[in-house]
Amino acid sequence: MTDAEKLSMLEKECFSDPWSLTSLENQLASPRTVYIICEEEGEPVGYVLGTVVCGEAELYRIAVLDRFRRRGIGDRLMAEFLEECLTRSAEKVFLEVRSRNFSAISLYEKTGFERISVRKGYYGDDDAVIFAKILN
Ligand SMILES: CC(C)(COP(=O)(O)OP(=O)(O)OC[C@H]1O[C@@H](n2cnc3c(N)ncnc32)[C@H](O)[C@@H]1OP(=O)(O)O)[C@@H](O)C(=O)NCCC(=O)NCCS
Repeated sequence: MTDAEKLSMLEKECFSDPWSLTSLENQLASPRTVYIICEEEGEPVGYVLGTVVCGEAELYRIAVLDRFRRRGIGDRLMAEFLEECLTRSAEKVFLEVRSRNFSAISLYEKTGFERISVRKGYYGDDDAVIFAKILN
């Protein structure tokens, strides 16, 4: 399985609006892309995907298969993503999340992200909250 295929499988399991395999292949082909796949016994169980461009990072996706949640994998993926952003000289990280995604918001706040704005009705049925974290 290619990395794009692994991400595609995880996307389908974890999101109602999964990225297509072609979008993932294009994303992974860019040198700006940062992604980490967590595997357990050779099987992909979680990932984080984002970009670093001109000193600013953006986290697009972080997800863990349902049956592997609450074991610290999300925490670990976030820590490794932030480390890689620093390695690539990013100074700030941004992300956007549904306002009712309480597990993800708890993970972001625990990791030191702060709410900077809200886009009302961005998802139609929910608002988008923008978070940012300064790296040092
Ligand atoms: C968000 C997500 C990645 C967390 O992964 P995880 O492996 O379960 O996370 P961890 O076990 O490392 O927990 C890290 C922190 O996340 C938060 N968290 C995770 N699950 C939570 C839950 N069910 N309720 C509240 N907080 C939760 C907590 O702050 C937790 O820290 P704690 O254990 O000290 O309380 C996972 O819930 C997921 O895949 N959700 C679906 C995909 C998604 O919505 N991604 C975000 C948008 S891209």
